[in-house]
Amino acid sequence: MITNICCIGAGYVGGPTMAIIAQKCPHIRVTVVDLNEKRIAAWNDPNVNNIPIYEPGLSDVVAEARGRNLFFSTEVDKAIDEAQMIFISVNTPTKTYGVGKGMAADLKYIELCARQIARVSKNDKIVVEKSTLPVRTASAIKDILDNTGNGVNFQILSNPEFLAEGTAVEDLFAPDRVLIGGDTTPEGQKAIQQLVDVYANWVPTDKILTTNVWSSELSKLTANAFLAQRVSSINALSELCEKTGADVNEVAKAIGLDSRIGPKFLKASVGFGGSCFQKDILNLVYIAKSYGLNEVADYWEQVIIMNDHQKRRFAKNIIKTLYNTVSGKKIAFLGWAFKKDTNDTRESAAIYVADDLLSEQANISVYDPKVGIEQIQFDLNYLETRSEAENLKGVQVATNAYEACNNAHAIAVLTEWDEFKTYDWQKIYDNMLKPAFVFDGRNLLNKAELEKIGFVYQAIGS
Ligand code: UDX
Ligand code: ADP
Repeated sequence: MITNICCIGAGYVGGPTMAIIAQKCPHIRVTVVDLNEKRIAAWNDPNVNNIPIYEPGLSDVVAEARGRNLFFSTEVDKAIDEAQMIFISVNTPTKTYGVGKGMAADLKYIELCARQIARVSKNDKIVVEKSTLPVRTASAIKDILDNTGNGVNFQILSNPEFLAEGTAVEDLFAPDRVLIGGDTTPEGQKAIQQLVDVYANWVPTDKILTTNVWSSELSKLTANAFLAQRVSSINALSELCEKTGADVNEVAKAIGLDSRIGPKFLKASVGFGGSCFQKDILNLVYIAKSYGLNEVADYWEQVIIMNDHQKRRFAKNIIKTLYNTVSGKKIAFLGWAFKKDTNDTRESAAIYVADDLLSEQANISVYDPKVGIEQIQFDLNYLETRSEAENLKGVQVATNAYEACNNAHAIAVLTEWDEFKTYDWQKIYDNMLKPAFVFDGRNLLNKAELEKIGFVYQAIGS
């Protein structure tokens, strides 16, 4: 029986997943390690509200398990040595250099982990891929482990994570399914069973699915590609709705009532963000291309092309509506995170909209309940469109939405935070320059109410 687990990577996946395993399995000692000392210090902060990842309900879980059987540490070697099962939850960004640049996953962090595991391990271990990885990564990890190890036996499992940020805790408590891929050999099957036994502490066994490694890896990419495709599909229709007078919300409702289609992931938006959708589709495209399957690659690439178009056209529309110039104008951004209830900003549409408006010399004032100026500046500097000094000059953060909107020409709603709906919109209107515009990238606010106050209101797809 597994009684000691180590997880390499204390990020958005590793942190919440291990916290829930520890809470649900008090008999298992769970150690989460990371090279990033600041991040580990934050996970260990005596004030549990200061943990580095904001997820509703997560601080309560950490408060219960931390120090009991959940530990956060920078001592990677020690944790690997002591563990029977090692989860790899390090980041796998898209490559920014060389072959496959902008498309393939950069596996250097995974490879470093594999080499470290190989070097440190003195007894047999089960290694679990938790990060989203291109198909066949497990076999690369196995190669490294088998050829540079100390003669110990490794079993590699693929156990993709399906949690969505903002709902990570509820997704982990009651997952739709847990997927575990492993070798078809007796040793592989035994390793699978050991991981099944961990999840079976709280997940009904009929929801735990076992497959071969490659099916498991590909299922993760496919799930995210299908979800992203739905968003791009409704977003494509949103542009058509704007031209024809149809309302995308009404269309989404009408088609979502068809039980074969279903109502979820049909919300038109300024574009999907997050660390998974784009990266996983690009992975899929890259894999397809590498097998010469160009039609397959083009098919999925279109989901990304549509998403980029949606972000760009939102920015273009703001500029066009503000009489073709935003130079020197204050634009308030409500939200910067890629969705509500998270402090994660990776690939957030807000970054790209801001980038376009900054190129037109706008002044942007951002209010996001969970994202601060440091992260915002980091996101913009990462694009390398202009100097850091120019980004600093062009973007400020406000301590609240009223301040962000004060004397602004327009408001852009980029994240669907619930609190935005509760504001005193009359007060916001009174303190803005007129005409006062709202560009609602999330279909979040009440059109009739805002128009009655006097706002010029435009939502995506209507
Ligand atoms: C996703 C998958 O849902 C999850 O299963 C996987 O493990 C990781 O990737 P995540 O990126 O955290 O999760 O969030 P998700 O809720 O899927 O949203 C992704 C993006 O799509 C967000 O920017 C969201 O705002 C956008 N979206 C989602 C829409 O624009 N419209 C929708 O109807 C749904
Ligand atoms: P994800 O959303 O996949 O969890 P994050 O970037 O939030 O991605 O988290 C990944 C974490 O993995 C980061 O905190 C990073 O410091 C850590 N990491 C990357 N490589 C290693 C490594 N070789 N050893 C330990 N931690 C690592």
